[in-house]
Amino acid sequence: MEKQYLSKTRKVVVIGAGFVGSSYAFSLVNQGLVNELVLIDANKEKALGEALDLNHAVPFGDPLTISAGDYADCKNADVVVITAGANQAPGETRLDLAEKNIDIFKKIVPAIMESGFTGILMVATNPVDILSYITWQLSGLPKERVIGSGTILDTARFRYLLSDYFHIDPRNVHAYIMGEHGDTELPVWSHAQIGGVPVQKFLNGVEAPLHPDMQRLFVNVRDAAYQIINRKGATYYGIAMGLVRLTRAILNNEQSILTVSTLLEGQYGINNVYIGVPAVINKDGIQRIIELSLSEKEQAQLLHSADTLKFRYPEKTK
Ligand code: LAC
Repeated sequence: MEKQYLSKTRKVVVIGAGFVGSSYAFSLVNQGLVNELVLIDANKEKALGEALDLNHAVPFGDPLTISAGDYADCKNADVVVITAGANQAPGETRLDLAEKNIDIFKKIVPAIMESGFTGILMVATNPVDILSYITWQLSGLPKERVIGSGTILDTARFRYLLSDYFHIDPRNVHAYIMGEHGDTELPVWSHAQIGGVPVQKFLNGVEAPLHPDMQRLFVNVRDAAYQIINRKGATYYGIAMGLVRLTRAILNNEQSILTVSTLLEGQYGINNVYIGVPAVINKDGIQRIIELSLSEKEQAQLLHSADTLKFRYPEKTK
């Protein structure tokens, strides 16, 4: 059946032409996902440089228009993606970035909305869960249309490391990371399966959370960004591909389930927090949240993660 497209324009605006924004833009061009791409950056020359460079890639792929623009270009965009903000320095946690990036978002989000934007707003800047909540509040958009990248990358890392450990194609590994995109995230071992078989069956019956290899594997997932930042200064390819995956699910009205950051209003016994959970994504954004029956330990970890995020909300939003 012909895929139903959101609209003929398939227009994406990327705010922030740094490592993540430019890697995301390049991935969109490479995959031929959009037919109009606008880059916005406080450093206009940087945005123009990225647009010029990307335009020279167009003859090698599908036709599309790429430009450096300004917030007025958000008006008829299908999706606007915010990647702008300060990055983690070695030794810094994502939550340490909250105050400075909230200040930046207080300028960016109103500028987007002043354009008359009515599409879907995606947030990638860290701490992504807190900034997604702030973006929802500042934008006035319905919660379904403000989506954070959440644990989409953590889930990919989890699936990659499980596939590597068990020598199985990652596409046959089904496992989620939920919670904060950060140090309090949790592996949902109770629903981790390989080819439909619970992971513990592959561990000779040992409960996955107790198996030392699985404990180490999860630590490598949770701390992956630190390992990369310490070596190359930043991460950007993984998150860029996660953002493209999410963009594809929206533009192609896929009804795909991805672990994004979305507002909980009682699901999992949690209220008024943006946090990483599996949700169905389609042309309207969050179509619905998937509520898993978590183990007692997983539920406690998710609640702790939500409390950790709430504690960092700016005073007036608590
Ligand atoms: C990472 C960044 C995107 O986890 O937070 O690589």
